[in-house]
Amino acid sequence: MKKMWIVLLLVQCYLAASHKYPDPDAKILSIKATLPFASAMTNPHNITPFDHCETNVTPPTVFKIPEYEINLDLPAEDRWTKLVSDKREKIIALIESIKQNCDQLFGKSLFWMVNEFLPLLTQTLPAEYRQELLGISSATGLSVGEITLFNVFYEFFSVCTSIVAKSEEGVLYHGRNLDFGLFLGWDPANHTWLTTNLLKPLVVKLNFTQGNKTLYQSISYAGHTGILTALKPGKFALSIDERFKLDGGYVGIVEWILGMRNQQWISFLTREVMEKCTSYSCAQKELAKPPLVAPVYFILSGVSPSEGSIITRGRNDFNIWPLGQKHKNQTGDWFLVQTNFDQWKKPPFYDDRRTPAIFCMDKEGNKDVPQALQNVLSTRPVLNKLTTYTAIMSAEKNMFEVWIQSCPDPCWPW
Ligand SMILES: *[C@@H]1O[C@H](CO)[C@@H](O)[C@H](O)[C@H]1NC(C)=O
Ligand SMILES: *[C@@H]1O[C@H](CO)[C@@H](O)[C@H](O)[C@H]1NC(C)=O
Ligand SMILES: *[C@@H]1O[C@H](CO)[C@@H](O)[C@H](O)[C@H]1NC(C)=O
Ligand SMILES: *[C@@H]1O[C@H](CO)[C@@H](O)[C@H](O)[C@H]1NC(C)=O
Repeated sequence: MKKMWIVLLLVQCYLAASHKYPDPDAKILSIKATLPFASAMTNPHNITPFDHCETNVTPPTVFKIPEYEINLDLPAEDRWTKLVSDKREKIIALIESIKQNCDQLFGKSLFWMVNEFLPLLTQTLPAEYRQELLGISSATGLSVGEITLFNVFYEFFSVCTSIVAKSEEGVLYHGRNLDFGLFLGWDPANHTWLTTNLLKPLVVKLNFTQGNKTLYQSISYAGHTGILTALKPGKFALSIDERFKLDGGYVGIVEWILGMRNQQWISFLTREVMEKCTSYSCAQKELAKPPLVAPVYFILSGVSPSEGSIITRGRNDFNIWPLGQKHKNQTGDWFLVQTNFDQWKKPPFYDDRRTPAIFCMDKEGNKDVPQALQNVLSTRPVLNKLTTYTAIMSAEKNMFEVWIQSCPDPCWPW
């Protein structure tokens, strides 16, 4: 039991900075507010986060996103071997960088606990996923603790934007930016976040197959086994955005470690939903229902004109915000925007990506929705220094596009 409490210390390594800001629901995001140096470094010209909507954005074609098959018929420990062997050097570079940052922030004594104590957490994970993590560990030579860290704590440190939008013809499109790397090291020379840079070459498209058929596709970082962005062609598309709450993931992890295992990890739940559900309504029900280790937003789009929603999950409750609802400043009722704040609350002043996204979506209109999403997701600060990739999906059109983003100066750090 004593060891388990040390796992919590490790969690603390990641959450410590969050206690300095008084707004309880902005807990982890408040890290942003406690890093004025980052702002000072990126913001030499006093830029404002938002000044105009981008237009006519075309995705860069320079970087081809690699595709891999994850064969679910293989034993769990072999499924990821090809992918993580190919990306081994890059995964190691990322973990090394996180390690150094953690050491700098909290002293050397903290990261060694990853190897000592996270394997205890690994042992408690559902068998199939535990086997996958063990397989990745032996394929990369990284410790089980490091691989677990990479997988489990992802859920707590991404900051993202998701938009579901319906075209004039009633076709649903689903766009998302995945922003990751907050507070894990600022590179003053390049004006970039170290972790964000190291994640970009890890972005891959995955086909999860069974019986030689593609069950669903996802966009992932090599080494991460969960689902953050995924498409079931002809059925539905899903993305997840972080939700920060005081009684959030921290409490959930504590309870899990103490043996209260009737709750689900978000990454594993989304894998199950992608695998088992064959309709939007099934996905919506299954995402809304089970108790969760951490709060989260699920953004879901289907194949008929009304099938779009944001499912705001507490650990034991849910709220569904369906397509058709509007924010105060929103004119059109054909799209939904979700960042990292509850729909019924104002976003905090230091991180308002929602207002510009809504403003620009309204300005775009619903004639050419994929183009509108490309433009809006490339508009600062919806696009910021943390953005790793932009994806646009449509279950009906079987569209599954992704490209690596960059945000040259002047650009807001988050
Ligand atoms: C993944 O699936 C897509 C669509 O079914 C297909 O075009 C692509 O070739 C597949 N890629 C791999 C690596 O299996
Ligand atoms: C920073 O930029 C320089 C030059 O553009 C490049 O050589 C270097 O690899 C970059 N460093 C990182 C950590 O990205
Ligand atoms: C998948 O295809 C391969 C080669 O085409 C075949 O050997 C194998 O039996 C198939 N597996 C299943 C589960 O159908
Ligand atoms: C709506 O727009 C007005 C004027 O642009 C602004 O002052 C207000 O904060 C906005 N409200 C919300 C909820 O974004």
